[in-house]
Amino acid sequence: MLEDVCLRIAGRQIIDRVSLTVKQGDVAVFLGPSGAGKSTLLKIVLGLWRPTSGKVTIDGNDITSLDDEQMHDVRRRMGVVFQGNALFDSLTVQQNVGYFLQRRSAFPKEAIDRKVEEALAFVHLQGQGSLYPDELSGGMKKRVAIARAVVSNPDIILYDEPTTGLDPINARAILDLIRKLKARGTTSVVITHVLKDAFTIGDAFTLINEGTVIAAGSARSILSSQHPFVAEFMSDMLSQPPMPHAFALARQEAA
Ligand SMILES: Nc1ncnc2c1ncn2[C@@H]1O[C@H](COP(=O)(O)OP(=O)(O)O)[C@@H](O)[C@H]1O
Ligand SMILES: [Mg+2]
Repeated sequence: MLEDVCLRIAGRQIIDRVSLTVKQGDVAVFLGPSGAGKSTLLKIVLGLWRPTSGKVTIDGNDITSLDDEQMHDVRRRMGVVFQGNALFDSLTVQQNVGYFLQRRSAFPKEAIDRKVEEALAFVHLQGQGSLYPDELSGGMKKRVAIARAVVSNPDIILYDEPTTGLDPINARAILDLIRKLKARGTTSVVITHVLKDAFTIGDAFTLINEGTVIAAGSARSILSSQHPFVAEFMSDMLSQPPMPHAFALARQEAA
């Protein structure tokens, strides 16, 4: 949960009084154009940026007041899938997926190997552990990044633009994985500028522009917002027939 969070970098207000709440078990979508501040918000939640003012609480713990070691423990419960995947090119798929487990935990090697193989099976990459990132397609790399995020069984997974740059079939496979994790009870934060993907998987939405929250809530409440930016941001989608089913339904309800 964010409360009145501001972040200034080099005198520039990047995040301006953002308050939002992510409900446990939800797929929470942060929507907005490029440069809106979405990735920065994700880094604030991860504790990689400390807000200039405001509060960030995770399960009631204010993480802005934690020292590095305590932050480490909070971060352990979060998995993250970065936009560029952030895989280590010199490590195999298996080593990439097991990397943080190996560094952070006292698990014996066999236990780590088993968890890695389970995570790879979850993303449909079983038996591919000996490949290197260079040998993988974009969709496979994304799935390795997801396997690395889920391997430690986190409560929260954050995804930065998980479908950007993927073809529709691979993009759908990624959305299916996010859904499968939701079914397991994982809380998800998904950053995207792709409306269709947002409305396909999201339970709750926060529309961000220029570092501030423009609208927040259900698909219905976002769509019924009177803020002029909403119409502007949605206009591409509204003019693109055929409208995705979920979006059409949400609009109908909003009307
Ligand atoms: N490390 C940084 N130093 C200075 N400005 C930054 C830094 N990271 C991001 N910004 C600026 O913050 C704004 C929001 O960036 P970002 O959160 O990456 O947007 P989004 O993910 O929504 O595309 C942009 O104007 C960007 O230039
Ligand atoms: Mg970004």
